[in-house]
Parts: sequence; structure tokens; C-alpha cells
Amino acid sequence: MKTQVGIIGGGPSGLLLSQLLHLEGVDTVVLEQRSRDYVLGRIRAGVLEKGMVGLMRRAGIADRLEREGEVHKGFDIASDGRLFNIDMEALTGGDSVVVYGQTEVTRDLYEARDRMGGIVIHEALDVTPHDITGDAPYLTYAKDGVTHSVDCDYIIGCDGFHGVSRRSIPEDKLRIFERVYPFGWLGILSRTTPVSGELIYARSARGFALCSLRSRVLSRYYVQCSLDDTVEDWPDDRFWDELKRRLPEEVAGRLETGPSIEKSIAPLRSFVAEPMRYGNLFLAGDAAHIVPPTGAKGLNSAAADIHYLFEALMQHYRDGDDRGLAAYSDKALARVWKAQRFSWWMTTLLHDFPENGAFGQRMQQTEIDYLMASRAAQVSLAENYVGLPF
Ligand code: APR
Ligand code: PHB
Repeated sequence: MKTQVGIIGGGPSGLLLSQLLHLEGVDTVVLEQRSRDYVLGRIRAGVLEKGMVGLMRRAGIADRLEREGEVHKGFDIASDGRLFNIDMEALTGGDSVVVYGQTEVTRDLYEARDRMGGIVIHEALDVTPHDITGDAPYLTYAKDGVTHSVDCDYIIGCDGFHGVSRRSIPEDKLRIFERVYPFGWLGILSRTTPVSGELIYARSARGFALCSLRSRVLSRYYVQCSLDDTVEDWPDDRFWDELKRRLPEEVAGRLETGPSIEKSIAPLRSFVAEPMRYGNLFLAGDAAHIVPPTGAKGLNSAAADIHYLFEALMQHYRDGDDRGLAAYSDKALARVWKAQRFSWWMTTLLHDFPENGAFGQRMQQTEIDYLMASRAAQVSLAENYVGLPF
């Protein structure tokens, strides 16, 4: 098989790039190691920045988003029983975010790819990039016991944190920056009325909690948990009880509880691999960087990479100009690091870090007090939350 752009990974990054390129007449093949059902079974954050919404419109997959996505103009921060609102719209001069599940974004992308006859090969095993630094790069993969090969101009690694792309770059050509946080997030999904129309990020002496939602009848809640915990340690009753204890009384009092329909634990990590290009292999999304979920920057950072990469590839195919491709890594990383800083800051602000001691706790408290009192601090939070420009 032969294509122009070979994409490894059929998550949101890979599918979005494939869709955008196809609309401009550039051929792609997407190789995804899992089944479609498996990919669509993963539950992830659901806050979309303006840039991501714009890309979805450009990719022609925004119809359902326009109908079902909820525009959020603010969110709450709770600390020590107090609740205060961050009015993003007022603080940014009119910006907001859209709450729409990442799983739904992926579903919309698959439907669009199907409609356009896009090639997405599922259960493609042992995907391997070859001749990355030569002039005839290609991918091999195994499907149903047969090995196949795809010749391409460029290979795009959209295969997430555990994928093969980043590992295909020689270790001495990559610099890794990493912070692993000493806790995780336990998340549940439940068919209950969300406790609030806006998200609530709560800091408490018992640890962080987040009240989020997917729709008027579907709630998504999280509590900071120990890395040693398993979901078996957290029957629903314990979860609801702990969540209530971390929320201001007034909020806890009106929390509707019910059976969980999904429950999982995710570790928190900040991670960046530099550079995001090696020869004809380009990394994008989780393959190159991970953020802790506080602030919901994961998908939005991936979207920014896809924006830069799409523009650069179009410059190449349309104008024969490779300057965009040469600049991709630096350009993408400049924005990646800003999202890293924000996610790290928001994580540090709201979680319990016992090892930071009394001084660390006072710093955290003072940071919250400052935020509550300073419009300048709130503007900084709001402009990052709605998303910095591409
Ligand atoms: N070969 C083929 N496909 C692979 C391989 C491999 N060796 N390894 C992983 N994949 C697939 C995974 O099964 C997954 O479907 O690559 C896809 C990567 O998707 P994501 O992990 O969703 O990453 P990305 O598309 O960059 O999306 C970024 O997803 O993880 C969240 O927080 C993250 O919101 C962010 C967004
Ligand atoms: C979610 O709804 O899953 C969500 C929302 C905001 C975050 C993280 C996760 O910061």
C-alpha cells in the first residue's frame, strides 16, 4: 500500500489530522492497534477550548457538538468550605469553553472518516516505522497474521503515551522532562443530575475533588486518591461519602448520588519529549506530552499540535514549502510548555501534597487567597483555562 501521510494511532489526534488532510486532498492511512469499540470505550476529559472547536468545524465534524455541547462561561473553585466563581467570559472579554466528551469527539471523527471512505485499519499489530531518516519511509504492521507494508512521505506518531513512535527515536536524540505526582484521580460516571451547571474544582484538607458533567443527566466526579488504591477499594458508597466531605456543605447537601456506570483510577503525570520531530517522523498529542488532568489540557494540547502539523503539511503539499515542517517541533513545543505550566500550577494549587509540609500548605492557602482577591490572578487563570491562541 502507498499513501502520502502514514498515521500511527486512531485516537483523536490521528483521526483529526487524517480528516483535515483528506478534506484538502491529501491521502492518509491510519493504523490503530485496538478495535474501534475499545477506542470508543475509553472515558476521558470533556472540556474543549475554542481552538479545538474551530478545528472540529474545519474538519466538518461539529454538527453534534453544536447541538449537544454545552457552552461554559465560568467554573467554581471551592476551598475550605468557600465557593467562588471564575467568570471566564467576563475575565477574558468573551471567551468560553464547550463541555463535550472526548469519546464523543472520537465517535464523530470515526463517523466522518467512514462517510469519506477514509482508511483506518483497526487491530493493526506490531506497527513499526522504517527508514525514518531516509527518503523512503514506510510502516509495517500485522493484521490477521499477515504482514503488510505502507509506503509514505511522512510518518505521524499519534499513538499516545505508550505508543511505538516515540520509542522509535534513538534515546540520545530525545530529551525527556517528567514529573510523576504522588497520587491519582479516582473517577466515576453516574446517571445523576450534576450537582452544578458549572464545574467545581475543590481543594480540601482531605484532598482534591472535581465535579464535572457530560450532560444534564450524566455526572462525572473525581477524588484525589492514593496510588496504591484500586477501584475495589472504592465501592460507590465510599466514593460518594468522600466526595461530599471534600465539597462545601451547601454543595454536598444537594449532591444526587446513584450507582456508578464507570469507575477508574488514573495516575497523574507531567511529561514532555523534545524534539517532536526526528527525520520524517513527527510526534503529536500524547505520544509527545502528557499533562495531569487538572485544567483539561490533554486533548486541547493535542489539538494545537494537529493544527501546526496540518498547516505545515499543507504548506508542503500545496506550495512545496518545507519551512513549516522544519519549524513544527519548536512551534508546537512553545505552546505545549505553556499548557504544561498551567496544568502543573493548577494541580499544585488544588491537591493535597503531604510531603510539602506546613510551609507548602500555607503557600497553597495564600495562593488561593490571592486568587480570590485579585482580578489579575483570575484573568491569568481564565485566559489559560479557555486556551491560549494557536
Ligand atoms: N500501534 C498503533 N496504535 C497504537 C499503538 C501502536 N503501537 N500504541 C497506541 N496506539 C493507539 C491507541 O490504542 C490509541 O487509540 O494510539 C491511540 C492514541 O490515542 P490517545 O491516547 O487518545 O492519544 P491522542 O490521540 O494523542 O489524544 C490525546 O487523549 O489521552 C488523551 O489526555 C489525552 O486528551 C488527550 C488526548
Ligand atoms: C472531565 O469532565 O472529565 C474533566 C473536566 C475537567 C478536568 C478534568 C476532567 O479538568
